[in-house]
Amino acid sequence: MTRNQTPGRGRRAADWADGRLGIHSLARANLRKIFPDHWSFMLGEICLYTFVIIILTGVYLTLFFKPSMGEVVYDGAYTPLRGIRMSEAYASTMDISFEIRGGLLIRQIHHWAALVFIAAMLVHMMRVFFTGAFRKPREVNWVFGFLLFFLGLTDGFFGYSLPDDLLSGTGIRFLEGVLLAVPLVGTYLQMFLFGGEFPGTDIVPRFFTIHVLLIPGIMVGLLAAHLILVFYHKHTQWAGPGRTEKNVVGMPLMPVYMAKAGGFFFLVFGVIALMSAIATINPIWAYGPYRPDQVSTDAQPDWYMGFAEGLVRVMPGWEVRAWGHTLNLGVLIPITLFPVILGAIAVYPFTESWVTDDKREQHLLDRPRNAPVRTALGAAWISLYLVALVGGGNDLFATHLHLSLNAITYFVRVGLFVVPVLVFVITKRWCLGLQRRDRDKVLHGRETGVIRRLPHGEFVEVHARLPQEKLFELTAHEQPQPIELPAEVDENGVARRAGLLDRTRTRLSRGFYGEGARIPKPTAEEHREITSGHGGH
Ligand code: HEM
Repeated sequence: MTRNQTPGRGRRAADWADGRLGIHSLARANLRKIFPDHWSFMLGEICLYTFVIIILTGVYLTLFFKPSMGEVVYDGAYTPLRGIRMSEAYASTMDISFEIRGGLLIRQIHHWAALVFIAAMLVHMMRVFFTGAFRKPREVNWVFGFLLFFLGLTDGFFGYSLPDDLLSGTGIRFLEGVLLAVPLVGTYLQMFLFGGEFPGTDIVPRFFTIHVLLIPGIMVGLLAAHLILVFYHKHTQWAGPGRTEKNVVGMPLMPVYMAKAGGFFFLVFGVIALMSAIATINPIWAYGPYRPDQVSTDAQPDWYMGFAEGLVRVMPGWEVRAWGHTLNLGVLIPITLFPVILGAIAVYPFTESWVTDDKREQHLLDRPRNAPVRTALGAAWISLYLVALVGGGNDLFATHLHLSLNAITYFVRVGLFVVPVLVFVITKRWCLGLQRRDRDKVLHGRETGVIRRLPHGEFVEVHARLPQEKLFELTAHEQPQPIELPAEVDENGVARRAGLLDRTRTRLSRGFYGEGARIPKPTAEEHREITSGHGGH
C-alpha cells in the first residue's frame, strides 16, 4: 500500500481494535490453529451449541417468568384451570405457554435443548473416555468437563422445579426427603433450603437465583476454561500415516472450521426447534399446580435424574432407630451411591495413570478395542446407569409392558450388581475378539468373499492385502507391559516387602496390560514371512 492510499474500512476497524486490545497477534496465532477431522469431535460442539441455545431461550423466559410463590387465582386463557388458586410461578408459566407470543415454543426449545445438552455431554464424555483422550495432559480438562456435566444435571433439576406444577413439586418433595435423610444435620439442611416447613414460600425464588445466575455463571467460567485448554493442549487425533504425538494433521480453524461450526450451530438449533415444535414436553397445564397433598402417577424426573431416582426406588426401606433418632438408610445409601458412581468416572484419569504408571503425554487416541479393560469399565458404568434408569421408570415399565412392579424392582435390585459385571466380561472379550480380527487382517488380508478352487480340489477364500495406510492404523497402537513389583531386596541387600498398595497396583496393572488383556499385535517379521508367500493364501 502506498502512502497516499487510505486503508479500507475493514483494515481501519482492525487497526483500531488492535491498537486497543492487541488482538492481532492473538488472532493470528489462534485462528490458523489446526483441528483434526473426525465425526466424534462434533459431540463437544453439540454441547456448546445446546448450551448457547439454553442461554438464549432462558433469557427470553426470564423476561416473563415470576419467581414467586405468592398465591393468585388463575383467570388466563386456559379455561380448564380458571378460578384455581396457584402460585405466581405457575400462573406466569401458564401465561408464557398460552399468552406470550412464541412463549410456548421458547419454553419447549429451552427444555428440549437442556435434555439434549446433558445427553450430548454424556456422549461427548464417553467418546473422550473410550478413546483415552483424557490422558496426560488433559486430566484437568476432563475434571472441568465432569464439573460441567454435574452442574448441568443439577441446573436441569432446579430448572424443571421452577414452574411449581404438580410434577416439579413432587421432585422438590423428593429433594426434601433426601435432605432429611442426611444424618445429624438433615433437618437443618431442610430448614435452611426451604426457609421453614415444606414447601414454604422461599423455594422457588431461591431456585430461580441458583438456576439462572449461580450455576450458569460457574458453568460459563468452566466452559471458557475448558475450551481454552482444548486450544492450549491442541486436539488429540487418530493414529495414521504422518500423524504423530508431536503434530496435529487437519484443517485450520479459520476459515474451514468456522464455516463448518457456524453451519452446524444452525443445524443443531434447527433440529431442536423442530423437536420442540412437534413433541410436547412438560405440559404443565395437564399436571395442574402443585399441592403438597397430591402426587400424580407416572411422576418421572427428566431422564438424567432417573438414575438417582432409580437407586432410591429399588432400595429396600431400611431404617435404623438409635438414641431417639432415625437413620433412613433406604434413602441415605442410594443418595450416597449416586455421587460415588458419578465421582468414580470423574477421577478415572488419575486412577488409570496410577494403575498403569503411564506418565507420558498422549496425543494419539486409542481405538477402544485396544484398551479392553478401560472400554469394558466404561461399558459397565453405562450399564449401571441404564439399569438404575429402569428402576427410576419402574411404574412406567409396569403399566406400559403389563409387568409386575415388584418383579421389575427385584430385577433392578439384582441387575445393579450382576449386569455391570456381565457387561464388563462381554465387552472385554468382544474387544479381544476385535483385536484378533485386526491381527488376522494384517497378516492375511481382508476377506474378499471370492472362493477359489485349488488344483488339488481344496476350496479357499481369496484374501486381499490391506493398503499400507490401513496396516499402519491397525498396528500403530502400543502394547505396554504391566508394572512389576519393586524388587524384594533393595540395592543395599535389605529385604523390602511390597506394601498392600503396591501389590494391589501391580495386580490391577496386570489386569490392564497383562496377557489376558491383549492379543499380541503382529510383528513386522511375521507380516513379512506370511506375505512373502509362505503360509498364506
Ligand atoms: C458444557 C459442556 C461441554 C462443552 C461445551 C464441551 C466442549 C468441548 C469441545 C468443543 C471440545 C473439542 C471438540 C471435541 O473434542 O469434541 C471438547 C474437548 C474435550 N472435552 Fe469437552 N465439553 C463439555 C463437557 C465435557 C465433559 C462432560 C467432559 C468429560 C468429563 C469433557 C472432556 C473433554 C476433553 C478431555 C476434551 C479434549 C479432547 C481431545 O482433545 O481429544 N467435556 N469439549
